[in-house]
Amino acid sequence: MLLSNAFLVISLTLSASLESGSAYSLFRRTSSFFPRDWEPEICNPDFEGSALSVVGNHGEWGAESIEPGSHIIGTSTRGAEIANADFHFTLTHNGETPRRYVIQDVDHADLVVGIVNNKLQLQNLNISDPTQIWSVQCEFCDSGFAGEDAYLAAYDCTISSPTTEECVELGLNKTQPLTLVPCSRRDEKQLFQFWTANATARGE
Ligand SMILES: *[C@@H]1O[C@H](CO)[C@@H](O)[C@H](O)[C@H]1NC(C)=O
Ligand SMILES: *[C@@H]1O[C@H](CO)[C@@H](O)[C@H](O)[C@H]1NC(C)=O
Ligand SMILES: *[C@@H]1O[C@H](CO)[C@@H](O)[C@H](O)[C@H]1NC(C)=O
Repeated sequence: MLLSNAFLVISLTLSASLESGSAYSLFRRTSSFFPRDWEPEICNPDFEGSALSVVGNHGEWGAESIEPGSHIIGTSTRGAEIANADFHFTLTHNGETPRRYVIQDVDHADLVVGIVNNKLQLQNLNISDPTQIWSVQCEFCDSGFAGEDAYLAAYDCTISSPTTEECVELGLNKTQPLTLVPCSRRDEKQLFQFWTANATARGE
């Protein structure tokens, strides 16, 4: 208990400092010392089947309702469905290398995140639909956390579509659908954290 609380404090401090952009300003300040083609090391997380909250700088993934055609939005609602107040997803590998993922509703494995008109929405799983396959690239990926609560599994992650090579971005406000836009690692609206916890357990 003490240990996991200590971790939570550390990870919250870490995420707070990331949110304030200090890691990025540090990178910008020091980047001239690196060779021209220097890039941060990128990892593709293994989420070990955990239920996850996907948290961005001003919102957390949710859905207008839990049915096909419902948009993914920036507030952790599940519409009328309250069984799991914070909207949780599971990201399952589809077996490709580098790792690609199917993003499933945690309570309905047949409902997955796909794309229509550049907007993210829940759809019935269709294994021949390439827009239901996602790439997740992070600057930090942990492992060995299966079953842990309030664990920051990965952070500084972009979530992109290998089909369009565009990245997921939060809307300007929490009720707008998440969209696919040209990728920019400097845009905080495109950076996400993956937590094995709801907002209460994260201490928010
Ligand atoms: C599944 O996806 C394929 C490829 O995009 C599409 O042709 C097909 O109509 C889809 N099936 C259903 C049931 O939507
Ligand atoms: C969020 O954006 C939508 C669409 O532009 C708008 O209808 C709604 O009023 C906005 N909500 C808030 C709280 O600003
Ligand atoms: C959030 O997680 C905590 C800790 O696991 C749990 O006690 C609480 O019931 C959860 N709250 C909601 C709204 O799911």
